[in-house]
Amino acid sequence: MPSIPNESTELVARLAGGDVRSLARAVSLIEGGGPPAQELLAACRALHRRALRIGVTGAPGAGKSTLVDRMVRHLRHAGQSVGVIAVDPSSPVSGGALLGDRIRMQGFTGDDGVFIRSMASRGVAGGIGANAASVCAVMEAAGRNTVIIETVGVGQDEVSVAGLVDVTILVLVPGMGDDIQSLKAGVMEVADLFVINKSDQPGAEKVEAEILAMQSLIATGTACAPVLKTIASSGEGVDQLMEEIARRGQRDLVLPKLPLAGRLAIDHLGIAVRSIAAARCFYELLGLHVTAEEIVAHEQVKTAMLPVGSSRFELLEPTAEDSTIGRFLAKRGEGLHHIALRVASLDDLFARLQEEGVRLASDRIKIGAGGHRYLFIHPQSTGGVLLELVEEVTA
Ligand code: CO
Repeated sequence: MPSIPNESTELVARLAGGDVRSLARAVSLIEGGGPPAQELLAACRALHRRALRIGVTGAPGAGKSTLVDRMVRHLRHAGQSVGVIAVDPSSPVSGGALLGDRIRMQGFTGDDGVFIRSMASRGVAGGIGANAASVCAVMEAAGRNTVIIETVGVGQDEVSVAGLVDVTILVLVPGMGDDIQSLKAGVMEVADLFVINKSDQPGAEKVEAEILAMQSLIATGTACAPVLKTIASSGEGVDQLMEEIARRGQRDLVLPKLPLAGRLAIDHLGIAVRSIAAARCFYELLGLHVTAEEIVAHEQVKTAMLPVGSSRFELLEPTAEDSTIGRFLAKRGEGLHHIALRVASLDDLFARLQEEGVRLASDRIKIGAGGHRYLFIHPQSTGGVLLELVEEVTA
């Protein structure tokens, strides 16, 4: 066993270079635990490689293994390298020589782009989540583009694995009956995607109806998790499933990287008024002052800015009746018209919002009062508020 730091460094260098035997050896070392495992893990994590992590769960008999095989084929076809961690509650020991592995490996014999490892879920120190996370880190260090973690059941293991992956898929089948009720308490809440496998069998509609009924009772993001149908044995629906996974996984991986976090601020509150001259009196009574007044010709509006701390009130007076603010006043009267968020960069965000299908009120970034770049997001996508995004001006 390697206890000298150099040994794990060398092993990681070999597996990072694509040596599959080193990968297998490293996974065994990780499962052995102790200082050698910790050392190896640290060396793997130091590489900062990250795969798309997919969690697949569901009751026994749902056809998960067949579905995972189809997913692997799809990824291989797309040129991706794949790691699979199969958590098997019936395995007495953990290791790579389980019967399940051999059966499953047959389809991928001779393909170094697929690495499959079974893990026992019983008697694992620190729980399956920690162990799967470590094995996952080794596979990522080895440059696997995608890691699939397959679990069986509806318990705490699935919930802990869900915290580890980018996308959690819950696989259901027709004829599950009361089993769906038992899933509710366990993994309904952590599912990002529902898959009805064997969807050509009678009862597929009933399962779907039950999922939708349950979603309406859960007040979390799960309520929005899409329901897809597959027939894993023939591969039907797998392309659509993988598209949805890629879409969701990319969002989870990319969104936090946008230069927004920590720099978001309320830039201003837009208030529609019939007359700025009349409305400003009240605000001036409060001690606020108009610092900038200007006409934005293309919006047919006159604006007055009154700073409030690091934010502002923006009074908006229409210069024409048939304008955005003019129509707003006619329909709703004076009042709060929009809320504006200040963001660091609008270009990345604009592209991302379009990709995500957020309804924008304009098809391009506009230039408004003070030369600020801005865009509006439709109330339909924001919970009923017209939301303006204003780009921060860098001096
Ligand atoms: Co505004």
